[in-house]
Amino acid sequence: MSGSLTGRTALVTGASSGLGIEFARDLARRGAAVVLAARSEAPMQALASELRAAGATVHVHCVDLADAAARTALAAQLEAEGLAIDVLVNNAGFGVFGAFADTEWERLDAMLAVDVVALTHLTRLFVPAMRARGFGRVLQVASTGAFQPTPSYAAYAAAKSYVLAFSHALDVELRGSGVRCTVVSPGVTATQFLAVSGQRATWYQRLTRMQAPAVARQGVEAMLSGRSGVITGWINALMAHGTRLMPRNVAARVAGVLMRN
Ligand SMILES: NC(=O)c1ccc[n+]([C@@H]2O[C@H](COP(=O)([O-])OP(=O)(O)OC[C@H]3O[C@@H](n4cnc5c(N)ncnc54)[C@H](OP(=O)(O)O)[C@@H]3O)[C@@H](O)[C@H]2O)c1
Repeated sequence: MSGSLTGRTALVTGASSGLGIEFARDLARRGAAVVLAARSEAPMQALASELRAAGATVHVHCVDLADAAARTALAAQLEAEGLAIDVLVNNAGFGVFGAFADTEWERLDAMLAVDVVALTHLTRLFVPAMRARGFGRVLQVASTGAFQPTPSYAAYAAAKSYVLAFSHALDVELRGSGVRCTVVSPGVTATQFLAVSGQRATWYQRLTRMQAPAVARQGVEAMLSGRSGVITGWINALMAHGTRLMPRNVAARVAGVLMRN
């Protein structure tokens, strides 16, 4: 396996499920100590036991990342424990499926708090110290939804467009500092995502669905090889680049058809 992280510490958000678990497994296999952060304690403790049995150092933090004070407290607690974060994986997030006008504001508000605000805040909390030490890697989790307006995921896809644009801009700002920012854009991946968003898998999603370990590996490998962005899977890459060649209103209509249950 390329890219040793021995002696490094990685913080993985959303490490209680799906891609977060696989990011943590992958980083631990590469030698990193891992800090697991999410709200659900039991799955993180189970993962911690598994990784410790394989020789990894693991810390578990139960935190609601929608809460700004909790994010600040997490960073302060890690500093107090003497843990310098070398690798930040901003993976926690969820989608809200359905017609925007019929969606409860509270769900949208919570989604934007995690997918946009928490990701930005955690990046702001940890990047300055990485830059001061002259080394750091940030892996932001966007989505293929970031590449075109997506009816029935209107706010979620727009939030991921923010993640994509923010991450590419930040990576350019950080050039020469020893810190890099990589953004991974998965397509549909077998996790709890659809159950949480409230969507039944469409024929297109069933056809293109990838497994979480492969998606996490592609993200980590892109990060370690210094790429600023990666779309996981060749069909997803083809579709994401293809829709960028279309007028945005046409791309939105195509995405709307592909998302229809
Ligand atoms: N699976 C896909 O098809 C797909 C495609 C493109 C992009 N993505 C992105 O991939 C990332 C991971 O999602 P997944 O597919 O692995 O879904 P998942 O299995 O539902 O996992 C989502 C993770 O986010 C955490 N999370 C949600 N709200 C949180 C909060 N307020 N505070 C802390 N943690 C929170 C959850 O932990 P708790 O509930 O324990 O807090 C969980 O660990 C997300 O950013 C998602 O948008 C997924």
